[in-house]
Amino acid sequence: MSAIREVQSWSAEGYARNARFVADLGLPVLDLLAPRPGERILDLGCGDGALTAKLAAAGAEVVGADSSAELVAAARALGLDARIADGQALPFAAEFDAVFSNAALHWMPKADAVIAGVRRALKPGGRFVGEFGGHGNVAAIVTALVAALNARGLDGAARVPWFFPTPAEYAAKLEAQGFRVDTIGLVPRPTPLPTGMHGWLDTFANPLLDGIDGPARSALLDEVEALLAPSLRDQAGQWTADYVRLRFAATLAS
Ligand code: BEZ
Repeated sequence: MSAIREVQSWSAEGYARNARFVADLGLPVLDLLAPRPGERILDLGCGDGALTAKLAAAGAEVVGADSSAELVAAARALGLDARIADGQALPFAAEFDAVFSNAALHWMPKADAVIAGVRRALKPGGRFVGEFGGHGNVAAIVTALVAALNARGLDGAARVPWFFPTPAEYAAKLEAQGFRVDTIGLVPRPTPLPTGMHGWLDTFANPLLDGIDGPARSALLDEVEALLAPSLRDQAGQWTADYVRLRFAATLAS
C-alpha cells in the first residue's frame, strides 16, 4: 500500500475483500528484512496493518505510516501505532533501525523525495528493505486500461499513477542518497486474484477512471476484461495478474 495516494481513495472493507493477498504474499520481503526483537521499524505504506502486525509479533517496536486515514484507522484497530503521513515528505528524524515497505512505493512517483525521507528517518547504518511493482509490473493490465481510455478520446498514459522502475534505475537513486545496495532485482510473480479482474480493477484502478461513472465506467471495465481474458484468465475462469516485484535491501552508511 502507499504513503501517498492523492489520486486514490481506499475502502478498508474493499481492500480486505479484494487485496488480502497483498500482505499474504509479503512474507519473502519480511524474511529479507529479518526483523530483530527490540528494533524500531517504520512500515512505510502500512495499509491496514496486516504486515505491520507481523513485524510487531517478531518483537519489533513498529510504527506504521500511510496516507489513507481509513486504512490507518484499520491498522489502529489492530492495536498498532499507525500514523497518517505522506511518504513523499516523511516527518521522522534518525529514529529507526529499519524502514520496511511492501507493495506501496509504486504509488509514490516522487521516488527521490521518498528515499530522502527514509534516509532522514533512519539511524546511521539503518536498513531500507522493500518490495514494490518493478519494470513490467501489471503491463498487460496497464496496456488494456490505456487502450480503453484512448479509444474514448482520453490520454490513457497520462492517467497511469504508478512508478515501476528497473533495478538499475532504483539502485542509482538509492546510491545517490548514500545507501549501499545489498541486493536488488526483479521477481516475476504471477498472482491469482481471489475476486477476479473485476475486484482488482475495483480496488486499484480508480485513479485511471476519474470522471468516468455509471454505465460508461461499467462498459469500459467490461472492455478491459475482454481485452485481458485471453492472456490473464484460464479455462477454469481463474484470473492471474502479471505482477513483477522489485525487491531490494539497502544500508545507510554509518
Ligand atoms: C502492485 O502491487 O504491484 C500494484 C497494485 C495496485 C496497482 C498497481 C500495482
